[in-house]
Amino acid sequence: MDPHLQGVHCRDVERSFDSAGVRQHVLKRLRFDAEPGQLTMLIGPSGCGKTTLISIIAGLLGCDGGSVRVLGQELSGMKPDALLDFRLHRIGFVFQQYNLIWGLTAAENVAVPLVAAGAAWPDALRKAADMLGRLGLADHLSKLPKQLSSGQQQRVAIARALVHDPDLLLCDEPTAALDARSGHQVMELLRSVAVRPGRVVIVVSHDQRVFGFADRISEMDDGVVVRVEDRVPTEVAYPSGPT
Ligand SMILES: Nc1ncnc2c1ncn2[C@@H]1O[C@H](COP(=O)(O)OP(=O)(O)OP(=O)(O)O)[C@@H](O)[C@H]1O
Ligand SMILES: [Mg+2]
Repeated sequence: MDPHLQGVHCRDVERSFDSAGVRQHVLKRLRFDAEPGQLTMLIGPSGCGKTTLISIIAGLLGCDGGSVRVLGQELSGMKPDALLDFRLHRIGFVFQQYNLIWGLTAAENVAVPLVAAGAAWPDALRKAADMLGRLGLADHLSKLPKQLSSGQQQRVAIARALVHDPDLLLCDEPTAALDARSGHQVMELLRSVAVRPGRVVIVVSHDQRVFGFADRISEMDDGVVVRVEDRVPTEVAYPSGPT
């Protein structure tokens, strides 16, 4: 099977943290699946382990046990260099707080992952400008993050996660800080730009207002997935995102 057509499959995943001498068991033999061509929403109460899980899936955090299979690769078996390469080329991550670099322009922020993966700056900046244009930010390429609104910063973060055309996109609470209309626009954008055959999109959200964009809702509680609901998305996205 073409590895590009494979999804994310977690089995018996364990993760604990030691904090102030106390061991906290955060993920407990967790099972989770996300399929290609779909938007999977991961929901659940604060502290149940959502960010921990998507950090493990992104290869940003190790697990203590179990199997994490991402796009046909078993992450625990990968050497650090191979894992870095895999992340740089195949995974995009939108952090909850955007994590933009404040001293770089919007275009430079978006170009960074391409340069990290070996591209020359002029090529990377051209591709970054294209992607920002698709997200309706063509007039803001040279602005610093502080000169952009919160919703525009968020779109820069999404552009940065998508610019290298990753096969797996992970977004941590992309609508948490937004009003209903902006939250709706961000989800329309994710569906129109990110969801396509072969690509796996996982969105962590508390936000019931955007559940209609999901093909699947996986609900976590206290370190395990307690409910999986496959559904037909009720929200229709614009074909090419907002202009
Ligand atoms: N690096 C860490 N060191 C110690 N404890 C941690 C660490 N990361 C997470 N935890 C703990 O693991 C638990 C789950 O955290 P996590 O961030 O995964 O939850 P979450 O479901 O994303 O919550 P929220 O909805 O509030 O973002 C929390 O109790 C948290 O304190
Ligand atoms: Mg979280």
